[in-house]
Amino acid sequence: MRILVTGGCGFIGSQFVRDALERGHEVVNVDKLTYAGNPANVADVADDPRYTFVHADIADHGAVRPAMEGVDAVVNMAAESHVDRSILDPAAFPMTDVVGTAVMLGAARDAGVARFLQVSTDEVYGSIPRGAFKETDPLTPSSPYSASKAGGDLQVLAYGHTYGMDVVITRGSNTFGPRQYPEKLIPLFVTNALEDQKLPVYGDGMQIRDWIHVTDHCSGIFAALENGETGEVYNVGGGHEATNLHITEQILALTGKDDRLVTHVADRPGHDRRYALDTTKLRGLGWAPKRTMDEALADTVAWYTDNREWWEPIKSGEYRAYYDTQYGNR
Ligand code: NAD
Ligand code: DAU
Repeated sequence: MRILVTGGCGFIGSQFVRDALERGHEVVNVDKLTYAGNPANVADVADDPRYTFVHADIADHGAVRPAMEGVDAVVNMAAESHVDRSILDPAAFPMTDVVGTAVMLGAARDAGVARFLQVSTDEVYGSIPRGAFKETDPLTPSSPYSASKAGGDLQVLAYGHTYGMDVVITRGSNTFGPRQYPEKLIPLFVTNALEDQKLPVYGDGMQIRDWIHVTDHCSGIFAALENGETGEVYNVGGGHEATNLHITEQILALTGKDDRLVTHVADRPGHDRRYALDTTKLRGLGWAPKRTMDEALADTVAWYTDNREWWEPIKSGEYRAYYDTQYGNR
């Protein structure tokens, strides 16, 4: 297939680009290169003749429509993706996550692209005190980020319903691994620990997330892309539930640091307490996550330990101003 992926210079997108090429596909990567988009994430494939990069905003029809020529499937992964930034400054979130998704759908329809896969998130369901969300559960997003992603999902389903487009949605759980921008819990705490900086735990740290390694998330997207039913939603969860404090303790142990680095700071406004996904439907397509939490987290910590040249420049740039605003008076 010739796959157009958006956001391929980000964390999950760059893994997906690499995996798609390894599976024998051609890839067109459309990315705006926001603060989270890093060409270094795909530098190893930049010279592959089956790979094309298009520097564009997914909300710009004139820029994305020509990139759709000859494309068999769109995998729309580009998004403003960080909950804390959506609380500080929400404006960009509906622009990319809702309007950008609608523009991509319109361009794919114009171009007659056979399948459109939307990469979404478990956060669209909101928080669940016990049990696990199924794909049929209602959407009750809590943050400007998750509300924007839910808006994107509804656009996708509406284009399927109204125009008969072949659309599929995946809803992934909290993802971790190499090349994740160090604003999210795991890369932030690993890199802070490596620099002997504080680890700012929000509130009591007993919030629960359902963790999945990035390669398992990508294999779930491929399973839905290749074998998913049209108009259907598939949860992609690792099934590794852990409190934030537990993850923090594991990171301290793996980096050889002690708990004096941990500081409890003011909680995130509107903070979801627990996420959990029922993945029966995707498993029915033959998918299962392969990585265990302990070995995948150890590998991830090793990657950040060995690749300081990847994250040190990030932490000294735009990131510094964000960090001071987000954590300065917390
Ligand atoms: P990321 O923030 O690391 O990367 C986002 C990428 O999208 C960047 O390369 C950025 O430059 C690009 N981008 C942003 N706005 C754009 C625009 N308007 N036009 C073109 N490109 C644009 O994100 P991520 O963590 O890799 O997440 C990728 C997708 O997966 C998102 O849709 C996110 O909602 C979803 N998701 C993420 C997680 C997670 O834990 N990280 C879990 C479930 C779902
Ligand atoms: O669940 C999927 C979602 O996971 C994705 O859709 C999002 O793109 C991704 O950012 C992630 O959202 P979260 O808000 O769950 O991830 P984050 O890494 O920001 O936070 C994970 C947990 O850690 C959450 O309970 C908040 C807490 N946390 C986070 C940071 C950055 C802290 O306690 N301290 C921190 O400094």
